[in-house]
Amino acid sequence: MVSTRDLRERAGDDPITMLTAYDAPTASIIDEAGVDVILVGDSMGNAVLGYDSTLPVTVEEMHSRTAAVARATDDALVVADMPFLSYGVDDADSIDNAGRMLKEADADAVKLESGPHTVELTRRLTELGIPVMAHLGLTPQHVNQLGGYQRQGTDQEAAEHLLDLAREHEDAGAFSLVLEHVPANLAQQVTEAIDIPTIGIGAGPETDGQVLVITDVLGLDEWSPPFSKQYADLRSEMADAVGAFKQEVENGEFPADEHSHVEDDVDDVY
Ligand code: KIV
Repeated sequence: MVSTRDLRERAGDDPITMLTAYDAPTASIIDEAGVDVILVGDSMGNAVLGYDSTLPVTVEEMHSRTAAVARATDDALVVADMPFLSYGVDDADSIDNAGRMLKEADADAVKLESGPHTVELTRRLTELGIPVMAHLGLTPQHVNQLGGYQRQGTDQEAAEHLLDLAREHEDAGAFSLVLEHVPANLAQQVTEAIDIPTIGIGAGPETDGQVLVITDVLGLDEWSPPFSKQYADLRSEMADAVGAFKQEVENGEFPADEHSHVEDDVDDVY
């Protein structure tokens, strides 16, 4: 089983693999493939819950999906994303919400979209035994402030601010750091500057690991970000399967004899 301690020690070592999952069957496939970390991302808001952004995702939704993923995972580290405003508003609520992910949903760690407001919270959660994965760069929960989902850390001041925050979160006890949609040269500098592993998404090849959203990997969404890579076309395969079912029911091909059974002991019941 991968622990947060194992992961922390992977900085500069073999590349770390991380994928999101939001349900048990997907989690078990990812786990059996030997992927190191399964992130129950709040990307589930867009990816599977039909919201326009991650903002409406609730603690209850995250809790239920995390529990499903954890039940299906034997080896990978399971990380639960903390949804918008479930942390950082009130310390006691933040600790309670994060604690529930470990105590009740069986996650191994939580991820916080990070900023100046999460440094002390990261320290507190870590002290209490709740391991924290930090997340800098594009933080989609700030979409209304950012005005969209564009690249971050693209000028000197923003890059230095991001590097400072990376150091502060490492110092506060974060065991790893996600870097989203930042220039590859900045991600490389951050990776070299801190001792905890960086896991990139749209952050170039020099981070200690890579993460992608599973629905992008499988080709389930109509749209995926330009930095993602599609490894399958499940949307087409699902559309074909659904179309074939409809056609076979309509033309009487399904169910065939092998899909039905007849009991000799049942006579005409009228
Ligand atoms: O919610 C999510 O899936 C994430 C990844 C994109 C890192 O935060």
